[in-house]
Formats: sequence, structure tokens, C-alpha cells
Amino acid sequence: MVNILKIDINNETMDIVINEQLTLLQYLRQNGLTGTKEGCASGDCGACTVLLRDKMGEADFIAVNSCITPMLQLAGKQVITVEGLTADQPLHAVQHQLIDKHGSQCGFCTPGFVMSLAGWLENRICEQGAMAQAPAISLRAEVVEAISGNLCRCTGYKPIIEAGIAAALEKAEAGSRFQPLLSLKSDIPSQMDAQLSEPVAAGEGSSKAPVMMTPGNLQELDASLMRWPQARLCAGGTDLLLEKTQQGNPLDCLISCLEVKEMNVCSTSEKALLIGAAASYSVIEQYCNSIWPDLGQFLKRFGSPQIRNRATLGGNLATASPVGDMSPLLMVMNASVIVRSVQGVERSIAVSEFFKGYRQTVLNDAEYIRAVSIGRDEFNGFRRFFKNSKRTMDDISTVMGAFYLDVPSSRVREARVAYGGLAAMPVRVKAVEDFLVGKELNQACISRAQALLREVINPLSDVRASADYRSHIAASMLSRALREQSGEILPLVTVG
Ligand SMILES: Cc1cc2nc3c(=O)[nH]c(=O)nc-3n(C[C@H](O)[C@H](O)[C@H](O)COP(=O)(O)OP(=O)(O)OC[C@H]3O[C@@H](n4cnc5c(N)ncnc54)[C@H](O)[C@@H]3O)c2cc1C
Ligand code: FES
Ligand code: FES
Repeated sequence: MVNILKIDINNETMDIVINEQLTLLQYLRQNGLTGTKEGCASGDCGACTVLLRDKMGEADFIAVNSCITPMLQLAGKQVITVEGLTADQPLHAVQHQLIDKHGSQCGFCTPGFVMSLAGWLENRICEQGAMAQAPAISLRAEVVEAISGNLCRCTGYKPIIEAGIAAALEKAEAGSRFQPLLSLKSDIPSQMDAQLSEPVAAGEGSSKAPVMMTPGNLQELDASLMRWPQARLCAGGTDLLLEKTQQGNPLDCLISCLEVKEMNVCSTSEKALLIGAAASYSVIEQYCNSIWPDLGQFLKRFGSPQIRNRATLGGNLATASPVGDMSPLLMVMNASVIVRSVQGVERSIAVSEFFKGYRQTVLNDAEYIRAVSIGRDEFNGFRRFFKNSKRTMDDISTVMGAFYLDVPSSRVREARVAYGGLAAMPVRVKAVEDFLVGKELNQACISRAQALLREVINPLSDVRASADYRSHIAASMLSRALREQSGEILPLVTVG
């Protein structure tokens, strides 16, 4: 076992002695890098945003919430904090534009905005000709999305958005003179690769269970789970780390599945789309762009860029939250969970049969999710995914509705209707599905389907919404999906 990790922080390779499960934010602040702030410690405010690069020279920097990123998942990776953005250089374009546009007031949230905007700008191609032709509104929308995981409660977002737009225009004008962060050299020694596969102990020579294991393939993952049955799997950590930061749970023994190569890939065969359980939503969105473009549209409502850069489908399903967004969506896509046991035996379970109660799944103790599979034929039908939440971005659902309809001529051949936020677990509404089959989707049919839905669901009242509100929203979502299927063009609504 090892207890020293090599991590590159601000272009300096550090030997970091690990004695406990720390978040990246805790480490940074304990070691003098206090430009990165703690606002909420739960991934919501973005004050702790830093840039992370997985493989030197091979990948882009991504923005992540350091408050819920375990330090132990970062061996061999490169981190840039706000201090590293300008080391030996003039201010980064987004920094001086924020100054020029008066985009900073309290200074607490500003480093997070700087890092989110810098991450976006670094990865964005800004060619002068294309920028001149692009509608200003779409550039603005991009900036808004880039900072959708950052909260400012004083200055207001207008000057911050203006700074982001100005920085992109500046990059376009500078052309090849723009000094990208990616040009920063880094030389983490290659022994890191060997070190990655070794468990990390809480102290040198410790006989206790390791605090983190980072298997590189399925066999290593199976072996780790068999050797340490008490270990918890950690993917993006965007649910799990809240147990540490919000509830004070120490999270003693974790197995990271982020480096398990078979779980990181998405692939397409003649029959199915296979999404690795540990692929982040950003990776999934990029991969599915051509085969499933509406997924990318929907994912813009999932958390924030920082969350989507880390969070995974495996984590979302295993958490089994009644308001998890992906479960209803996958239910109506007839998706299956590919489950693997530590003995290497695999079985496939329909997502519609995966949940058995509040935060409970049918997974056995010695099983985990390897991938999610969706048949290619499922992409032919009409589908709609609607999310109702208090804020448009960076918020979890109050009600999530997903709809799939096969209407070959004038009558419905197949209907699938699923919701999150209406019960203790995500549910398919079979009564409504059965009712719709064989029907023509006219106003009378839609009204009867809505009435039936309200009769069979029994939503809870909680801090997010009353039962009556949920019931009303669920019925409106159903009506909207059915009317859009019938060709009605309805105005876009932004909830939040
Ligand atoms: C600020 C914020 C915003 C969020 N917004 C949304 C949102 O809009 N919609 C939404 O649905 N959720 C949201 N979430 C919740 C969370 O991001 C998702 O549920 C996410 O998909 C979890 O994935 P993860 O990789 O981070 O899981 P982790 O936190 O790593 O793991 C979660 C649980 O799943 C288990 N697990 C992980 N991978 C596997 C596997 N392969 N097999 C078996 N068990 C596994 C872990 O042991 C753990 O118990 C948000 C969270 C935060 C902090
Ligand atoms: S401190 Fe708020 S997102 Fe990390
Ligand atoms: S500048 Fe920090 S809350 Fe607005």
C-alpha cells in the first residue's frame, strides 16, 4: 500500500501524504491555496470551482467542484486553482474582463466564476470570422450555461455575463496570440501509472483497510470488492461526498470506479447503445450527440457543468433517489441496467424493475452497475423529457416526467409514461399507458388521460412542493407530451 500521491497542482508536481479522506478543497485550503473558497460544501454554489485535467496533454481541462471531489481520486492528474491561472503571466482574459465590466463585488464567489469562465473559454474555439457571424444571443446562452453552477447574490449576473462574452471576443481577436492554459507544461513522473493500481492506506505500513482503491479494470474492481466487502464504490462522488461534507460521515474505505476502463466507455453496436456506468454526463452528452440529440438538450437541466463533468449514470441509478432525473427517462427508453457480480457474472435488469422502494434497488451486496444498455430501435419513437424544478439550472427536480409514444398512423400503438418526484421511487404509470393504447390523441382523450393520471398517483407534500402542485404539474406534462406528439407547436416554457 502507498500513502503518498503525486498530483500536479498549478504546474508543480506534489508528493502528497495521505492520512485521511480529504476533499480537494480541504487540501487546497489547508495548504495555503485559499483563493478557492468554501460556500456550501455541497456542489451547489460553485465558489470552490477549480480546473482538472485527467491525462496530461491528452484531455481538456474540466471545471469541477473541489468541495465534493475526493483528493484520493486525483493521483496522476493536474489541478489548476485560481492562483495557478495567472502564475508568471498577465491576468487571464476572464479576470481582466471581470474587472473591466465590474463583475465582482464580494470576492467570495468571484474565484469560482473566474474558473468556470476560464474552463469554458479554454475549451471553446473562438475564430474571429465565426464569432463575427454567430448571433450574440447564442454566445450569451453559452456563457450563461458556463456559469450556471455558480451563484452570485450581490452584483447580479449581467456584468459577469458581459465579461464572459468580452473574454470570448478577446480570444477570437488575439487568435494564435491567445496563451492557452493547455500550453502549461507538466511532467508528472510516469511511475504514477504503477502507483495508481495500489491501494492507498491511511498511514504508511497501516494494516487497516485502505482509504481508497483505484482499480483500472473490471477484474481488479471485482478483486478489490471481494477483498474489502465493506468498501463503498465512488464514481463522481456528487452524491456520496455529501455524506462526508453534510453529515460528517468519514467515508473510510472507498473504491473509485472512475479509472475502470470498461466502465468509462460508451459504444454503439447494431443492436444497442451501451453507456458505461462510470462515464460522466459530459462524456455521455458528447458521445450521444448524433444518435440521441435530445438527451444533450435535457442534460443542460441536470445539475451544472461542474456536476456533469463528474457525475455518472451508475451513481444516479444506484442512489435510487425518487427525484433522480435519469431513472424516468431511462424507463421510457426501455433501458436495461447491466449488473455485474464480484465473481464476474453479469445479468441485465430493466430500469423499470430496478427500484424496489425508497432509495432501494434490486442490487445484491456483491453486485454493481457496469453499464446501461438501450436498444437502437428505441430511438425511433416520439419522446419528451420534462423537468420541473425551482431553479431552471443547478437544481434537482420537483417533478420529472418522461414520455415515449409510438403512433404509426392515427392511433397509439405503444405508450410509456414515467415520473420522478411522485412517489418514494421513480415509477411507470401503467394505467395511463394502457389507457392510451389504441386511442386517437384528441382533446377528449388527453383530458381523460390527465384525469386518470391524477386518480392513480398519490404524490407527497414536502418542502419542494405540495401534493396538489405535483399532481397538477404531472398532468400538464402529460398533456404537453401528447399534444406535441399530435403536431401542436407549444411555446417554450422555462420553469424556475
Ligand atoms: C449540486 C448538485 C446538483 C445535482 N443535480 C442533479 C440533477 O439535476 N438531477 C439528478 O438526477 N441528480 C442531481 N444531483 C445528484 C447527483 O449528481 C447524481 O445522482 C449523479 O448522477 C450521481 O453520480 P455520481 O457518479 O456522482 O455518484 P456517486 O456520488 O459517486 O455515488 C452515488 C452512490 O452510487 C453508488 N455507486 C456509484 N457508482 C456505482 C456503480 N457503478 N454501481 C453501483 N453503485 C454505484 C455509490 O456507492 C453511492 O452510494 C446533483 C447533485 C449535486 C451535488
Ligand atoms: S463550496 Fe459550494 S459548490 Fe463547492
Ligand atoms: S460577487 Fe460574490 S455574491 Fe456576488
